[in-house]
Amino acid sequence: METKPDIKLLISNAGVVKRGNFDEAGLKGQLDMCDLNVKGATAVTHLCLPYMKKGSIIMETCSVSAFAPNPHLNVYSATKAYLKSFCIGLRQELKSRGINVCAVHLGWMNTEMNAGARNTRHTDVSNFLPEVNVKKLASRSLAAARKGRASYTQGAFYKFYHLLAKNLPHTLVVKFSAM
Ligand SMILES: NC(=O)c1ccc[n+]([C@@H]2O[C@H](COP(=O)([O-])OP(=O)(O)OC[C@H]3O[C@@H](n4cnc5c(N)ncnc54)[C@H](OP(=O)(O)O)[C@@H]3O)[C@@H](O)[C@H]2O)c1
Repeated sequence: METKPDIKLLISNAGVVKRGNFDEAGLKGQLDMCDLNVKGATAVTHLCLPYMKKGSIIMETCSVSAFAPNPHLNVYSATKAYLKSFCIGLRQELKSRGINVCAVHLGWMNTEMNAGARNTRHTDVSNFLPEVNVKKLASRSLAAARKGRASYTQGAFYKFYHLLAKNLPHTLVVKFSAM
C-alpha cells in the first residue's frame, strides 16, 4: 500500500456458501468457496496486519458451522473450521503486539446468502434454526472483540450447540446435523 493506513478494526466478512452433497455440488463452486472463505480471509488479514498496532482488532466472520462437520454443507463447514483454528492461533501470536483476534460465530441470518435456502431438500435442519438478530450481533460482537474476547456466539441455542460440539464426538454430532 502506498499510503500507510492506521487500521484499528478489520472485519474480514466476505464469504459464500455452496450447499449440496459433495459429489453432486459442482467442483468449481466449491473450489471458489475455498478461495474466498479461506484464501481470501487469510490474504486480507495478512495484507492488513502490517498497518495494525497495539489496540487494533481483527474480527473474522466464522460460523456455527465451524463447531462440527455439517453434511450437505461439508466444504463450507470446513472452510469455517479453518478460520476458527486460524483465529485461535493468530490471537496467540498477536498477544504480544496488543492486537486482539475475535472469531465471530454466526448462526442463521436472513441475508442474501440464504435466500430461498429454507425448505429445500438439504436444509431440513436449518428450517428449525433460530434467526440471528443482525443489529444485536453487530454491536455485541464488536463489544466482545473490544473486551479482548477470543470468540463471540450469539444466542442460547447456538451457545448450547457449541457446548455439545466441544464435548461430544463429532462422529455423533454429525448424525444430528445430517438430519
Ligand atoms: N447468513 C448466514 O446465515 C451466515 C451464517 C454463518 C456465517 N455467515 C457468514 O457471514 C458472512 C457474510 O455473509 P452474509 O450472510 O451477510 O451473506 P451475503 O449477504 O451474501 O454477503 C456476502 C458478502 O461476501 C462478499 N463477497 C461475495 N463474494 C465475494 C468475492 N468473490 N470477493 C469479495 N467479496 C465477496 C459480498 O460482497 P458483495 O456484496 O460486494 O458481493 C458480501 O459482502 C460470510 O462470511 C458468511 O459465510 C453467514
